[in-house]
Amino acid sequence: MKGKIKILGISGSLRSNSSASAILNIVAGLVPANVEFNIYNRLAEVPAFDDSSEIPAPVVHFIKLLSEADGVFFCIPEYAFGVPGALKNALDWTVSSSTAFPDKPVALITAATGGDKAHAAFLLTLKAISSKIPDGATLLLSFIRSKLNEKNEVKDTATLNSIRSVINSLIGSIQN
Ligand SMILES: Cc1cc2nc3c(=O)[nH]c(=O)nc-3n(C[C@H](O)[C@H](O)[C@H](O)COP(=O)(O)O)c2cc1C
Repeated sequence: MKGKIKILGISGSLRSNSSASAILNIVAGLVPANVEFNIYNRLAEVPAFDDSSEIPAPVVHFIKLLSEADGVFFCIPEYAFGVPGALKNALDWTVSSSTAFPDKPVALITAATGGDKAHAAFLLTLKAISSKIPDGATLLLSFIRSKLNEKNEVKDTATLNSIRSVINSLIGSIQN
């Protein structure tokens, strides 16, 4: 692959002190130098999906960023046993795009108190939009608050290594 690998990072949380966003920032700091890692932080601007033929400007922008990316890295929490609504809503807009997700390698880290339900549900959505989920590119981090210190750094080496492993799986899939 010529040039830098482009990965778009997306946090499913809009909270200012979000654990999912903290993990995404950690990922951004761990990627190798041949990766350009950009974080999309305009989820709150995406209007509610209405299957309209007129695509709102924030959605056009979102789909453009996705289409330009070689891979997408999601970090999501779980709210009320599900995927955060703002993220699910934004992905609903991409279903009819032939360039946003089909065959695009994606990684998913779910960081929540439990998180298993959102993790499973979001993997189904990632399949529905025909993205490619490489082996080893998914990770469920339960009890996330206990895994981060007050500076939002990962406390233990095992967790850090499992995050590194997800990154490597995503990059390996992009390069193949
Ligand atoms: C309204 C609300 C609902 C929640 N529901 C769940 C849930 O169903 N399952 C779960 O594992 N955690 C749940 N949590 C806990 C969050 O997953 C946890 O606080 C997580 O760290 C929040 O992610 P964030 O910091 O990235 O926003 C909930 C938290 C809130 C505020």
